[in-house]
Amino acid sequence: MQITALNGVGAEVTGVDLRRLTDRAEVELKQAFADHGVLFFRDQDLSPDDHIAFARRFGPININRFFKATPTHPEIAEVRKEKHQTTNIGGAWHTDHSYDQEPALGSVLVARDLPATGGDTLFASMYAAYDALSAGLKQTLEGLRAVHSSRHVFGAQGAYKGDAENRIGNAEAATQDAIHPVIITHPLSGRKALYVNPAFTLHFDGWTQAESWPLLSYLYQHAIQDAFTTRFVWQKGSVAFWDNRATWHYALNDYHGDFRLMHRITIEGCALS
Ligand code: SIN
Repeated sequence: MQITALNGVGAEVTGVDLRRLTDRAEVELKQAFADHGVLFFRDQDLSPDDHIAFARRFGPININRFFKATPTHPEIAEVRKEKHQTTNIGGAWHTDHSYDQEPALGSVLVARDLPATGGDTLFASMYAAYDALSAGLKQTLEGLRAVHSSRHVFGAQGAYKGDAENRIGNAEAATQDAIHPVIITHPLSGRKALYVNPAFTLHFDGWTQAESWPLLSYLYQHAIQDAFTTRFVWQKGSVAFWDNRATWHYALNDYHGDFRLMHRITIEGCALS
């Protein structure tokens, strides 16, 4: 197995069949995941059961309460865009489940049906974003916590109201708000990472949204510099496994009139400090 760091964020892993991991390969993958934040694999041939078995090596599976699941496997959420739909799922910078008290460890995304062109996913490193802040701003942010919510995204009047409705459901369950430190110490790597995101973070705890916005928007622009990001071009057999505490991602919506279907499994995480 070879692990090659990419520019920006993440690593490409070659010479491995995710259906048949040796104990040693599993240990190496866990280390690479902690080191790089997102791992990319090519030419895999994962059935839904293989996908589930791979994800379970890293922790229990979170059954997604908003995304429609595949008809046969409740553990697998569909990330689907039909030819006639204009909204895609995940089409803005975000990290999954930051609105939970114990945000998800990560997600394993498998390409099932890809558009002829487009539909790439961008990733950004929140380790790099943190590291590049000035000492003064790091010190200010260390003292802050932020409020995250699912309501304005998955709630009845949320961002997916409209043509995403047959893919996203259970709006009445969008009641989660959570408060997390703005700078976390990553539970696997021990490194510091920026932990706010444009989709789910509402404001700093104890600050109004108007007061929070100038600093949050500065951080959001800072975090998506080219030097901290990678663009993953999907192919048949591609798999991405990202850490939700160390990265953001963004599913590009540049394939209107074409179909895209991905299978996502999200793995349970822990409280952040
Ligand atoms: C997601 O945000 O989980 C979906 C990413 C993608 O479809 O590329």
